[in-house]
Amino acid sequence: MRPLDPARPGAEFPLTMNAPVLPDALATLLGPAGILTDPADIAPALSDWRSLYQGKAMAVLRPASTEQVAACVKACAAAGIPIVPQGGNTSMVGGATPSEDGRSVVLSLARMNRIRALDPVDMTMTAEAGVVVKTAQDAAADANCLFPLSFGGEGTATVGGVLSTNAGGNTTVRYGNARELMLGLEVVLPDGQIWNGLRRLRKDNTGYALRHLFVGAEGTLGIVTAATLRLFARPRANEVLFCSVRDEDAALNVFRRFREADETAIRAFEYMSGVGVDFAVKHIPGVTLPVADRADHYILVDLASTRADADLQGLAEQVLGAALEEGEVLDAVIGGNEAKRQAIWRIREEHPEAQRKEGASVKNDVSVPVSKVPELIRRASAACVALIPGTRPVPFGHMGDGNIHMNLEQPVDMDGAAFLARSHDIMDTVNAVVRELDGSFSAEHGIGRLKTDMMEAWRGGAELDAMQRIKAALDPAGLMNPGKVLP
Ligand code: MLT
Ligand code: ZN
Repeated sequence: MRPLDPARPGAEFPLTMNAPVLPDALATLLGPAGILTDPADIAPALSDWRSLYQGKAMAVLRPASTEQVAACVKACAAAGIPIVPQGGNTSMVGGATPSEDGRSVVLSLARMNRIRALDPVDMTMTAEAGVVVKTAQDAAADANCLFPLSFGGEGTATVGGVLSTNAGGNTTVRYGNARELMLGLEVVLPDGQIWNGLRRLRKDNTGYALRHLFVGAEGTLGIVTAATLRLFARPRANEVLFCSVRDEDAALNVFRRFREADETAIRAFEYMSGVGVDFAVKHIPGVTLPVADRADHYILVDLASTRADADLQGLAEQVLGAALEEGEVLDAVIGGNEAKRQAIWRIREEHPEAQRKEGASVKNDVSVPVSKVPELIRRASAACVALIPGTRPVPFGHMGDGNIHMNLEQPVDMDGAAFLARSHDIMDTVNAVVRELDGSFSAEHGIGRLKTDMMEAWRGGAELDAMQRIKAALDPAGLMNPGKVLP
């Protein structure tokens, strides 16, 4: 049955099972600041920010140290209580929301928010799981370094969460996903053992790379309590361009032109549709169209260099000149100063909020080989309009790494709830195109609860079998974030 189906509450446990009891030892261990049971206090931890799910839990545990996390895990394992780890609770797929049966506890890493070490020679930072991504960025900047992970939720999402979901964001094209930014992890295993793998080595070939097992596992194999992260040299020159382009192919060709001219300068290359930019201009105060005329397709190019004297404007003018001549670029503005650069980025970053304000929308976080992005956008848009006439496709996102948010906005005259009831039909329609283009049904948001039912069709056979055996070996009782990732 589908995860969004309201008839599915509490699917992980038969209703006849006796409810587990919260061990008294937890209150003693954690103290009053470390355990919340009042319904009003725990309410924010029980639903996801997209309001897809409304769970229940016996308590929210708030351990303040790795040892306390381990003690919580041991106590819960002994009592048979499932644990739902939670960072900033910004999952797009319900990955941190407990089920509706009320048998689990949420384990919040919010109090584990120390930056334990930062080394500008090794270019590493060791941060606890509850450190907010923006705080990690600021700490790196204070040391004249860069922690490059960057996305809309960076002011709330945490280090443990972004590693557990292998978050991507705007700078993947240059620096990679969260996985590529991680050198070592500290993890509490499902039996309560603490594994300290906080090595800060660039080379460490010592058998299975366990640390990578926990990245993207969404807390189903253990709880990430700290991580050693890679830092980079801080860019000293930056330029942001906003261009209207002829079509999707032209957008991709401009990407190719920039890569050929200077691949190292591209920090982000984002695509936006005319409809998506219309929504941002309509709903977000202060957002305006930077170019003279409305178009059906736009790109945002962020160029950055660690050289203060890098001529990024010259690079932009050279590439855009050729692309304008070929009719690929219709019009372009170059930010020029920090306020203008931020104003351009805002048009892109406010896309999710603008779509929310416009009405009901269905998200499809998918990826295809970069060369197939134009075909994905065209074919998936047409297929969704054929499925529900009047549907407004709002494809946008990380064209440079092949990850497009193939989102669909409800028809103007359709009831929002009726549109959302078709969510899975829409996702299936998009995914059918994605499959034909050798893509993935989950690019950067993860599986969570929303996409578990797609795992069999996409990863079934040897791959899913191996995943299930790893899960059974590490978490035989199935207490770590049950109902997530695996069907
Ligand atoms: C983004 O890149 O803005 C988000 O990952 C996309 C979304 O909200 O669908
Ligand atoms: Zn994204």
